[in-house]
Amino acid sequence: MSGRSAGRSRQRVAVVGGGVVGLAVARELARDGNEVTVFDDRPGAGASSAAAGMLAPVSEAAYEETELLALGLAAAAGWPEFAATLRDESGIDPQLHRAGSLLVGFDADDSRAQHRFAELLDRHAVQWSVLDPVEIRRLEPGLNPALLSGMYVPGDHSVDPRAVTAALLAVLDRLGVVVVRRRVSVGIADGTVTGVRTIRDADEPDRSSDTEHPAEVVVVAAGAGSGCALGLPDWVRPPTRPVKGQALRLRGRPGLLGRTVRASVRGDRVYLVPRENGDVVVGATSEEGLSDRAVTARAVHDLLRAALTVLPDLGECELAETIARSRPGTPDNGPIIGRTPIGGLLHATGHYRGGVLLAPITATAIAALVRDEDVDPLLRPFAPERFAAGLAEKGTR
Ligand code: GLY
Repeated sequence: MSGRSAGRSRQRVAVVGGGVVGLAVARELARDGNEVTVFDDRPGAGASSAAAGMLAPVSEAAYEETELLALGLAAAAGWPEFAATLRDESGIDPQLHRAGSLLVGFDADDSRAQHRFAELLDRHAVQWSVLDPVEIRRLEPGLNPALLSGMYVPGDHSVDPRAVTAALLAVLDRLGVVVVRRRVSVGIADGTVTGVRTIRDADEPDRSSDTEHPAEVVVVAAGAGSGCALGLPDWVRPPTRPVKGQALRLRGRPGLLGRTVRASVRGDRVYLVPRENGDVVVGATSEEGLSDRAVTARAVHDLLRAALTVLPDLGECELAETIARSRPGTPDNGPIIGRTPIGGLLHATGHYRGGVLLAPITATAIAALVRDEDVDPLLRPFAPERFAAGLAEKGTR
């Protein structure tokens, strides 16, 4: 660790946001020898607590988002080492599950969509294979025999994001990083950050104990809340918008499902992600502009209907949890990672559907920038400067 920081001055860094991205950024910066503080009123309780944890650049790829796919593939390649060091440093296993993913379809439209998708994968030299219904059920005997088509993507894996968050918090504690459970406002003077100031909620009358935390560097990693980060002028706000996702957890048994399965069922997209203990995470809705945490009857109904069609035995499992959190969407679906025109202010946000996948590569990039080094060229399309002033205003509404 001391080798990483040799020759560089120790900077005070405030990381605004304690989800998987903010915590990974804080770890990387602390390992570089910086004095890091994380600010979040409920660390790990935002989108990271609802995420299924798919490390699935391929299955999540949309047809035109080739730069995002390239970034995701690089991020996925780095995950095994990230998971191993995190486990060694924290003693907590992030449960990297390397069994690939299955994309299954019930009708001819699904098969056609898979063929179009395969063209994109071939352009990126991604491994995949077509499976017939017999092969699908050989891999996953519990799946509905009515399935017509399938693709196997061996490189799309998963982790348990709650274990990742717990591991990161444990490592930060060991590295001496303080996690302040407060919301903050960013301070800026003469075009440069000055640090952050903790703020109280409106129903907390005593403002006298709000504290200043001077810092040379402030990293905004507040997920869906980044677009509303206090203290930032409008023109420098990351143009994130909330996209609500509702998800379920069913108390399964080991062996019920071996790998992530994604399907479209009568137009409803669903994914099923197994955990080591047999639980199955079922997700997720995608509701533009919503940031409330209410779980709706319709979402539970639609997700369960789709999930039980894919894996009928789920019907006998306890519905253990329902949860709703918001992803940080951006105007082009890409993350916002890099320096801003305000001195010392960096954004590490807007990860939309890929926060868990992209957290380690984001952390590496932010640490490089704080060291005044170049970032991996794959990150360049995702620099904050691609959004002109004015987009921010639209994007946060
Ligand atoms: N990455 C899965 C989701 O956002 O629902």
